[in-house]
Amino acid sequence: MPELVVQLRSLIGEECERLRRAGIPEPRREALSLWAEVGRVSPADAVVDGHLPVAPARAAQFQRAIQRRAMGEPLAHITGWIGFRHLALRSDSRALIPRPETEGLVELLLSRVQSGVVADVGTGSGCIALSLACEGSFSRVVGVDCSSVALALARTNSKILGTDVDFVRADLCTGFRYGAFDAVISNPPYLSVAEYAQLDSSVRSWEPELALVSGSDGLEATGRLIREARHLLRSGGWLALEVDCTRSTAVARLAAAHGWCDVSIHLDLFGRERYLLARRSDTGDLG
Ligand SMILES: C[S@@+](CC[C@H](N)C(=O)[O-])C[C@H]1O[C@@H](n2cnc3c(N)ncnc32)[C@H](O)[C@@H]1O
Repeated sequence: MPELVVQLRSLIGEECERLRRAGIPEPRREALSLWAEVGRVSPADAVVDGHLPVAPARAAQFQRAIQRRAMGEPLAHITGWIGFRHLALRSDSRALIPRPETEGLVELLLSRVQSGVVADVGTGSGCIALSLACEGSFSRVVGVDCSSVALALARTNSKILGTDVDFVRADLCTGFRYGAFDAVISNPPYLSVAEYAQLDSSVRSWEPELALVSGSDGLEATGRLIREARHLLRSGGWLALEVDCTRSTAVARLAAAHGWCDVSIHLDLFGRERYLLARRSDTGDLG
């Protein structure tokens, strides 16, 4: 019996409908992205080539990818790629999928400092550290994480991009020399245990809990960074933190109480209070 050959346009239409029924918010965009990955073409080609026949094996491969997405697996895990600022990064279950709001944290730090030595604490996939290495003129970029699997992913990304970032396994700021850095940047875990329990299963089932939860109040890692990062910084050095928008005021107060100066809160692209900037005071030891 001859194999049934399907036209690309109708295949994408059917699979797009499957994603829509599964509740995927942007089914057409995602179906095109998955076809682009399977067919090794650009999403625009998928539209232009709609009249072409699709080989049955390729169609089956596409349908398997669509099925994974319909079951809730993140698009970035299925394609294995995520865009972050100017970079295309590998992404999988070993680390948090980089979020668009974190791009703004990088922007904020780069608007204040572009040279010297910088540490990205809680580096995950390496998205922040690698962006700083590619866009800034830093003499050294260090990416820190306590997760060895996340660090392995970050090193793979660094190798693909040909960047020179040192990825180090450590517990937040412990183990670094006093005053070693001109800037510390971090997107730490910042959900409370209760918030994590309420989180959509599309995140909870696929991304590492270690990357998301930080104690009963969500402030464990953030509080430690505020207390400990000052020892890493030279006088006048910058701290840039991503924070939970519901706790931005509390975090700013905590920073001021611990002697940081020029403490300010900044909005993300959705207009939420998402970033804290602060400087180590010029008066030497903050005690
Ligand atoms: C919110 S994710 C951020 C990942 C990445 N920087 C990003 O923006 O996509 C937080 C990261 O902090 C790491 N982390 C959690 N607790 C840590 C600790 N005590 N020391 C070092 N890293 C930690 C997690 O493994 C995770 O990779």
